[in-house]
Amino acid sequence: MRAALYRDLGKADEVFHVEEVDRPEPGPDEVLVRVHASGVNPTDYKARSGAVPRPVDGFQIPHHDGAGVIEAVGAGVDPGRVGQRVWLLMAAAGRRWGTAAEWTVVPERQAVPLPDGASFELGASLGVPAMTAHHCVLSDGPVNGRTVLVAGGAGAVGHFAIELAKRAGARVVTTVSSLDKAALAEKAGADLVVNYRSPGAVDRVKAFGPVDRVIEVALGANLELDLAVARPQATIVTYAAEAANPVLPVRACMTANIMLKFVLLYGVPTTTLEQAAADISAALAAGELTGLPVHKFPLEDIVAAHEAAESGAVGKVLVTP
Ligand SMILES: NC(=O)c1ccc[n+]([C@@H]2O[C@H](COP(=O)([O-])OP(=O)(O)OC[C@H]3O[C@@H](n4cnc5c(N)ncnc54)[C@H](OP(=O)(O)O)[C@@H]3O)[C@@H](O)[C@H]2O)c1
Repeated sequence: MRAALYRDLGKADEVFHVEEVDRPEPGPDEVLVRVHASGVNPTDYKARSGAVPRPVDGFQIPHHDGAGVIEAVGAGVDPGRVGQRVWLLMAAAGRRWGTAAEWTVVPERQAVPLPDGASFELGASLGVPAMTAHHCVLSDGPVNGRTVLVAGGAGAVGHFAIELAKRAGARVVTTVSSLDKAALAEKAGADLVVNYRSPGAVDRVKAFGPVDRVIEVALGANLELDLAVARPQATIVTYAAEAANPVLPVRACMTANIMLKFVLLYGVPTTTLEQAAADISAALAAGELTGLPVHKFPLEDIVAAHEAAESGAVGKVLVTP
């Protein structure tokens, strides 16, 4: 099969090769999936560049996320799954078979049925972002009637955080940095969109009402705003590390009586992930999840795809094997 892969860590144009490799066979409890779309996430290029390295087992085909059709199943898997449309999660976690190839093999629980109405493009956009958003928004119980602040509402995680919080009955305010990102956040359903670079940002969020839960992409940059708008006992859930670690203003955090929480998808228990995946599929089936605008690259252009993602393309970067 054709696959994009690297053997060494480094810049995309220095380490990527697109070549033929033997197609993997599904082992026990695994499925073979024909990949129709492969999603690029920051974790994929951070692993490839060595910024947050993962061990390379000879070669690494990148990308956790993808969508396609099950073509074969291993022992212990219901043969009725052959032909099923699926979205994939964590395909490259501890394995060399990421989704940037014509086929991939994953444990069957990481191939989640994709409802008929949902496109492969949307399916390939879900894994890391929607699962992270789901855990950040809902891991401490229902948010119905609560006020949720999503920092960076036009980002991949932020987008699904808005949609999942709205689906769960929350009031949602989000922050963005430009008009085009504001339009995306509005389309996702945010009740209020605020440019965090504008002088009145804190007052505009405050006027929306005290915030119960913050879904935070940049804790250091936004903590002052978060503390200013948070209700006592609010939770700030951080899922991204900034280039420099923030200095924590302990007295201000105490005064605000807030809770700080940190999430890394790789460490979330399997049962929690399975529940989140089922809930995301239900949201898909109900038509309540949408995709960001996509930037599609053929497999041969894997370098350009990674460079686009790394340079902050607005929307979702996909590779189509
Ligand atoms: N913990 C986990 O398990 C986990 C899971 C998924 C992703 N992540 C990490 O989360 C980060 C985002 O991932 P992603 O896929 O959502 O990336 P993305 O699609 O590039 O979105 C990031 C968004 O954050 C916004 N942003 C940056 N600085 C901001 C600030 N100070 N205030 C508000 N928004 C800000 C960006 O817009 P502007 O720059 O225009 O503001 C952009 O829209 C990455 O570092 C990724 O590695 C972690």
